[in-house]
Amino acid sequence: MRLLWKLVILLPLITACAGDGPFSRPVFTQEPQDVTLPLASSQSEVTLRCAANGYPPPHFRWRQNGTDLDFSMSSHHRLDGGNLAISSPRWDQDTGTYQCLATNPLGTALSRKAKLQFAYIEDFETKTRSAVSVREGQGVVLLCGPPPHFGDLSYAWTFNDNPLHVQEDNRRFVSQETGNLYIAKVEPSDVGNYTCFVTNREARRSVRGPPTPLVQRPDGVMGEYEPKIEVRFPDTVQATKDSSVKLECFALGK
Ligand SMILES: *[C@@H]1O[C@H](CO)[C@@H](O)[C@H](O)[C@H]1NC(C)=O
Ligand SMILES: *[C@@H]1O[C@H](CO)[C@@H](O)[C@H](O)[C@H]1NC(C)=O
Repeated sequence: MRLLWKLVILLPLITACAGDGPFSRPVFTQEPQDVTLPLASSQSEVTLRCAANGYPPPHFRWRQNGTDLDFSMSSHHRLDGGNLAISSPRWDQDTGTYQCLATNPLGTALSRKAKLQFAYIEDFETKTRSAVSVREGQGVVLLCGPPPHFGDLSYAWTFNDNPLHVQEDNRRFVSQETGNLYIAKVEPSDVGNYTCFVTNREARRSVRGPPTPLVQRPDGVMGEYEPKIEVRFPDTVQATKDSSVKLECFALGK
């Protein structure tokens, strides 16, 4: 009789080790994704998600930069099921790579590594920019030169005190790669002050540069000249499936 009991208890363990039966290794049903937070956020909590099946049900641990987080030591990190909740995230202590570990007696599964990062953009330096001097009909490039940042930027330019952005047309182009403004051939109405306006959506912040004056050289009008490609797209562009891609191309010329 006692032998029979032992067999009943041992049998599931043996079959589990053979890979089937009611016991099963942890398998993730949800893995953490990369998160970018604004640096100046007052967000009270951020959650990195993790869930796994398995029998017996797995227990969860997390690593930041390869080091196990100690949930007993502070209330900064909290385990919510398999999820990791970080209260009042701060860039100096919470930036890094996070990994979820799900363990049961049959083994440990390691999740993908998710990055927690903070987006920001500094102010432009306020020093004034020297004037750019061109002949009528000549092509010109005004440099934006965005300040130090982390996160994707988008660019626009304003002209004089006009609150509206400079509209792109067949003569004017704003690169979303560099922020530079291209004017294929300058007309007298283009003379004035240009200001680059940079937005970091992830940081929820926009900054404006110092104005660059565009002035007209008095020594006559530029004759016709052949197109010269100034903005070209790279040889290779990485894209995720179903996303949109913009290849930039713009030429100066008259
Ligand atoms: C984790 O590693 C990243 C990248 O090396 C580093 O920038 C960050 O400061 C590290 N985080 C901590 C808390 O040490
Ligand atoms: C451009 O800016 C300079 C310096 O701020 C100013 O003196 C000048 O009047 C401006 N030009 C135009 C067309 O607004």
